[in-house]
Amino acid sequence: MITTPQYPDDIFTEPDPDPDTLANLGPLTPLAGVWEGRQGSDVNPKAHGPEFKSFHERFEAQPIDPQTNGPQLLYGLRYRAHMVEPGEVGAFHDQVGYLLWEPATGLTIMTLAIPRGQVAMAGGTVAAGDRTFALRASVDDPHFGISTSPFLDHAFHTTAWQIMFRIGADDTWSYEQVTTLEVAGQGTFEHVDSNTLSRVGAPTPNPLALA
Ligand code: HEM
Repeated sequence: MITTPQYPDDIFTEPDPDPDTLANLGPLTPLAGVWEGRQGSDVNPKAHGPEFKSFHERFEAQPIDPQTNGPQLLYGLRYRAHMVEPGEVGAFHDQVGYLLWEPATGLTIMTLAIPRGQVAMAGGTVAAGDRTFALRASVDDPHFGISTSPFLDHAFHTTAWQIMFRIGADDTWSYEQVTTLEVAGQGTFEHVDSNTLSRVGAPTPNPLALA
């Protein structure tokens, strides 16, 4: 759980942000752009037990305009991750969300929405130059939590999600994530996914920066 910092009394006055998001993304800077990875590895739950699969991934993360919540200033990326099994067309996994960084505090956020009827928000504190960092969500955390639609919650109750990022030296980055499920009739299951992504495209500057 992230500790609550001292907040200002004035919760309405907004700062004047630098319009260039790409210059203010801190640890998220190396994730901006278009990426592909063919070393995806997945362990998912099946009736007979864990199923091991490989997948190919395309990950696109584009800068958005600076976002203020009163005095709080966030810079971020809007991302889409799309995975297929090798040689297949249909989605193996599809995910959209935002990656956000608050320069003033190092607060780092990853939101996730997946078409199973599930959303989550993982958080952590990360310094501008960190090349390895982890973000975490837990079902009982009021800030960095997980919300699951009724059947999925009944059958595959998701209690935690943790993702570790490692930025490589050669325009690559990797992630390893563990989603902890309570599978009805089976018990605790660690749904593990990892991949290494290589750049295939540069980011497009955010609209305010282009203007
Ligand atoms: C690279 C990332 C991921 C891939 C490739 C992936 C893939 C899969 C696959 C193939 C299944 C089994 C589907 C089925 O049997 O019908 C599954 C199940 C599930 N996944 Fe993921 N997943 C990923 C990440 C996540 C994340 C981050 C979460 C939530 C935070 C999540 C939540 C679930 C849940 C709740 C299930 C159980 C539902 C079911 O088995 O039908 N997954 N995932």
